[in-house]
Amino acid sequence: MAKLVLPGLVDVHTHLRVPGGEHKEDFASGTAAALAGGVTMLLAMPNTSPPLSTPEVLQATRQTAAATIRCDVGLFAGASPADIEWLPACAPFVVGLKIYLNDTFGPLRVEELPVLRACFEQWPAGQPIAMHAEGQSVAVGLGLAAAYGRPVHFCHVSRRDEIELIARAKEQGLPVTCEVTPHHLFLSQADAGRLGPLGDMRPRLASPADVAALWDHLASTIDCIATDHAPHTLAEKNGSTPPPGVPGLETSLPLLLTAIHDGRLTVERLVELMATNPRRLFHLPEQPDTWVEVDPEAVYTITAEGQQTKCGWTPFAGRPVRGRVERVVLRGRPAYENGRLLAPPGTGQVLPQGEEF
Ligand code: NCD
Ligand code: ZN
Repeated sequence: MAKLVLPGLVDVHTHLRVPGGEHKEDFASGTAAALAGGVTMLLAMPNTSPPLSTPEVLQATRQTAAATIRCDVGLFAGASPADIEWLPACAPFVVGLKIYLNDTFGPLRVEELPVLRACFEQWPAGQPIAMHAEGQSVAVGLGLAAAYGRPVHFCHVSRRDEIELIARAKEQGLPVTCEVTPHHLFLSQADAGRLGPLGDMRPRLASPADVAALWDHLASTIDCIATDHAPHTLAEKNGSTPPPGVPGLETSLPLLLTAIHDGRLTVERLVELMATNPRRLFHLPEQPDTWVEVDPEAVYTITAEGQQTKCGWTPFAGRPVRGRVERVVLRGRPAYENGRLLAPPGTGQVLPQGEEF
């Protein structure tokens, strides 16, 4: 097959660890990993330290981003019970609000109904809300979407019960959307023992039946594939209290291209899941003269070595894949070519553009 040209991919769920976790990843290394994976625009999560829950922290983080990013980056504001009053003032600096209903890495959590209600009442209408909701929390998110009549996006859905409930809610006309991650599509509990802490993330790896349900819904219920790139150092992962999370920016497209080769996915659906739908759901701008050139026939094995991410490991090491990113062009300029990074820090744009900072 000839070379395949894809639009620049949009990852709506990335952890870049700025501020406070730069030893795991920073804007320059994380956006380098993005380009190596064919991602030209990404949305960065707010569970940093301090978290992205006040306008001051957001403005400072936007400034750091403007100087150091190699692809386009939007930030999420994080809902924090102590900072709820700041939500409206945060809105101009971000692409959406992230609400964590379940435990994961970092302190951001909303557990009380009055705080959840305040989020929905104070966050500007028309600006996206994304939720980390597992199990019964999915029903809470659906209830809020119904009660407030506004869109809710469910992050990293991983279980059959959850995706089937979301499918029903969509059938009923609720304005909800969802994403799945490559690690929940290509790994299961069957891999957890082999991987140890390198296979620990939130939501946890699910059963093979859950994985099958996600694949069943990929052509219908699921709106986006997002990496949930969540780098931690090997020392942290092998320590006594390993933090949850796995990197994914550089492995997602090769895994999905392999699925296309295997007949489990089409190129058209991949483009919807990783470019068209993400842009539409999060009101993201087009990137003119931006594309990704892929060799769909390149056969190789994923390795930890040679990655751009600072963390230096991947749960997919040793996996054979078919499909390699050869070249990425961002706004007419070569940004990545055959393993070489060409986009210097500061060449990406911070979204939304045009805000004073
Ligand atoms: C994420 C992280 O490390 O920030 N970890 C994870 O296991 N996915 C947080 C998150 O997205 O839940
Ligand atoms: Zn995440």
